[in-house]
Amino acid sequence: MTRSLNGKVAVITGAGSGMGRSMALRLAEDDARIAIWDINAAGAEETARMVREAGGTAIAIEADCSDKAAIKAAADRTRRELGKIAILINNAGIAPFTPFLEIDEALLERVMRVNMFGPFFVTQECVPDMIEAKWGRIINITSSSVQSGSALQTHYTSSKGALLGFTKCLAMALGEHGITANMIPPGSIDTPMLRGAEIMQKPGVIEAYGAALPVGRIGQGEDIAAAAAFLASEEAGYMTGQTISVNGGRYMGSA
Ligand SMILES: NC(=O)c1ccc[n+]([C@@H]2O[C@H](COP(=O)([O-])OP(=O)(O)OC[C@H]3O[C@@H](n4cnc5c(N)ncnc54)[C@H](O)[C@@H]3O)[C@@H](O)[C@H]2O)c1
Repeated sequence: MTRSLNGKVAVITGAGSGMGRSMALRLAEDDARIAIWDINAAGAEETARMVREAGGTAIAIEADCSDKAAIKAAADRTRRELGKIAILINNAGIAPFTPFLEIDEALLERVMRVNMFGPFFVTQECVPDMIEAKWGRIINITSSSVQSGSALQTHYTSSKGALLGFTKCLAMALGEHGITANMIPPGSIDTPMLRGAEIMQKPGVIEAYGAALPVGRIGQGEDIAAAAAFLASEEAGYMTGQTISVNGGRYMGSA
């Protein structure tokens, strides 16, 4: 445990599961105080319990992070109970697999609302605190599918691609206030989302996929959390608008 984040308040959306939970535990190790915003109340409570059990501070807030009113209520409660928001990780997301011609308007709108409108509104809600403090860290969880393409995820990859442009614009718009905005496009990470994907249901497919990667294994939430901890740190202050590709070598280009 280090004390490098010195009690700063970190909002992590979707931290009731998967890599969000790993990031909550990791940032709490660096002494961030964590606000978990998740539509899954039980998952959020479980993460908060795990953080507290490890000696950290966390609150769980049930919130649909694609809904402006719910976002406002979550931010108000976070400020009341923990203080002004210094670090934001836009991590909540949904990742359906659907053939292109079968994606209807309702599904496209849902994916865009959760994966793109949500981070946009959450960031608008949190940034004024960072401007006031002249310090902030925004980390957007995108996807390696933006770098490589993904045949069954035209909706999902479009939403995450929008986050890529969003992140670079935030870096331009907010740099003068001491705020950085960066992104992590995970490769395949062993979370409930990955395990739940229809294409991953055959026994051994996840492990086989991992074995074929340069590092020889599937990713873990802790791999993403390590990169997030760096981007959230004081030391990362000269890095903005950038991508840290945590993907086991799946994709090595630049994007
Ligand atoms: N697991 C992977 O291989 C992988 C790869 C690339 C990108 N990602 C991205 O990483 C992020 C985290 O994924 P994960 O694998 O940990 O998934 P996960 O399903 O384990 O966790 C996602 C969390 O987001 C929450 N959530 C979903 N919609 C929400 C909403 N509207 N409001 C609030 N919370 C909501 C869920 O309740 C869940 O707790 C997602 O944005 C995902 O697209 C994951």
